[in-house]
Amino acid sequence: MTASQRATARVTVRVPAKVNLQLAVGPLRDDGYHDLVNVFHAVSLFDELTATESGAAGTFTVRVEGESAAHVPADSTNLAVRAAEALAKHAGQTAPDGHPYGAALLIRKAIPVAGGMAGGSADAAAALVACDALWGLGLSLGELMEIGAGIGSDVPFALLGGTAVGTGRGERLTPVPVTGSFHWVFALADGGLSTPQVYGECDRLRATAGEEVVWPSASEPLMAALRDGDARELGAALVNDLQPAALALRPSLARTLDAGRDAGALGAIVSGSGPTCAFLAGSAEHAREVSAALAGTGACRAAVTAEGPVPGAEIVS
Ligand code: C5P
Repeated sequence: MTASQRATARVTVRVPAKVNLQLAVGPLRDDGYHDLVNVFHAVSLFDELTATESGAAGTFTVRVEGESAAHVPADSTNLAVRAAEALAKHAGQTAPDGHPYGAALLIRKAIPVAGGMAGGSADAAAALVACDALWGLGLSLGELMEIGAGIGSDVPFALLGGTAVGTGRGERLTPVPVTGSFHWVFALADGGLSTPQVYGECDRLRATAGEEVVWPSASEPLMAALRDGDARELGAALVNDLQPAALALRPSLARTLDAGRDAGALGAIVSGSGPTCAFLAGSAEHAREVSAALAGTGACRAAVTAEGPVPGAEIVS
């Protein structure tokens, strides 16, 4: 890339949120992570990230706009910045012409912050795709996924999208065949929940109950529901081992889940580590009805509809 091309280069990437259709939490590992079976499903709630050349060569900056932007760090702890820096390191820090890699990132957030929908991981994935294109690196999806796994367990899935089973700490992915689309309602909460704290509470609750922690496996009824495109069966098969911990830390979520069930949802579940709650509907129209009914109860800050599966991070301009 020449200096003049560099001055005008700009890449915008759209990246989806995820909901976990099955989050089976296995034993705590020596590295502080849990072995999981994690059925990820990408939904049409998107953040957008634009990467341009940074003003000063070799520097990384980030600006955040939109949903709860004030709660997202705008410094080098931002996962998008960490991802861009990791990519630059992987590429040897400087372009073949000697120009140090750098980027100014602008994130337009719609995915709830600390909401259990992998918004931070989504932004990291978007940064990898955007900077790979901005710097003309041409890395494969597999290479980006490997770099992403070093940033966060959910980053590889935000790159892949669709529906996939994650094992290990959630980073080893196998795509799952799905028939048709599913329609969702997400109840957004005030404030977030800390993922490490929710996992810690899960361990504590299990220890207190003397629960034996079994090695997790993928749910057959869930896989069948996805294969058959059967929303009623899928609603009945949704399962999240982190839900008791999220409810213990945020008891008001029980009311949110009840409100969604009362509104006719086919399934109700805390999304990942919460506090966003996910409700499955039978159609787009049904989702709008559930969303309106939920919003009317006051059991959540806002309700939004989305569908899944959708593709992972992709360049839109
Ligand atoms: O990988 P990531 O940084 O997104 O994980 C955030 C936290 O969630 C980890 O520090 C850990 O406490 C918890 N976690 C876990 N087991 C996993 C994934 C995440 O305990 N498989």
